[in-house]
Amino acid sequence: MNPIFPSILSTNFFDLESRLSAFASNGIEYIHLDVMDGHFVDNISFGPSAIKALKSKFDFKIDTHLMVDNPEKMIPKYIEAGSEWVSFHIETQKDHAALIQMIHSHGCQAGIVLNPDADVERVFPLLPDLDYVLLMSVFPGYGGQKFIEATVDRVGLLKGHIDERGLDCMIQVDGGVNADNAPRLKAAGADLFVIGTFLYNSNDIENTINIVLNQINGAKR
Ligand code: DX5
Ligand code: ZN
Repeated sequence: MNPIFPSILSTNFFDLESRLSAFASNGIEYIHLDVMDGHFVDNISFGPSAIKALKSKFDFKIDTHLMVDNPEKMIPKYIEAGSEWVSFHIETQKDHAALIQMIHSHGCQAGIVLNPDADVERVFPLLPDLDYVLLMSVFPGYGGQKFIEATVDRVGLLKGHIDERGLDCMIQVDGGVNADNAPRLKAAGADLFVIGTFLYNSNDIENTINIVLNQINGAKR
C-alpha cells in the first residue's frame, strides 16, 4: 500500500482535477477526505457528494476523517457515498465501540482519531477492534499548520504498546507532515502519512511524492 494519503483540504478547488490526476499517475491509492461540520471544529469542508464526484472520475479509495459531533449519523452517509475507510474522534462523547462496529458492519476499515492533547492510553482498550489509529500532529480544523514535534514520541508510545500486545493496528499521522518529519515518524512506528500543504506548496508534485516516499522507505525502525 502506498503510505502517502494526500489530503485535498488545502487544494485550490479549481486545480482539484489536475492534482488528482497527478496523484493517480504517481501511485497514490488513497485520498484523505477531511469532513468538518463547523461545530466539532470551526470550519466546514466536504459533504458526501464530494466523494461521489471524485469516484465518478477516479479509482482512489477514500479515507474519510470525520471531524463532526454526530459521527453516528454521518458514518452511514459517507460510507454510502463511497468511503472505504472511516475514522472519527475519540473526543466525541459517543459509544466508541458501537461506532467501530457500525463501520465494520458496512465492510469498511475503522479508525479512531486522537487530538494532540489526548492521552494516547485512552485508545488502548479499543485497539483490538481498530484497523488504524490517527494521531493528529496539529489541532484539527485547518490545513497548513506547523507540525507538533511531540507527535513523534506519541507514535513511539502507541507503536510500542501495539507490538507488545501483538496487534496489527496501523498508525496514521495527520497535520504538517513533510519530508523532514516523515522519516522520523516512520522510525517511531507510523505506517500512513496524511500530507496536504507540503504537496501543494511544491510546483512538482511528482518529485515531492518521490522525495517523501524515499525518505519514508529509507527510515529504519
Ligand atoms: C486538519 C486536517 C488535515 C490537514 C492536513 O484538520 O485533518 O488532514 O488537511 O494537511 P496539512 O498537510 O496541510 O497539515
Ligand atoms: Zn485529516
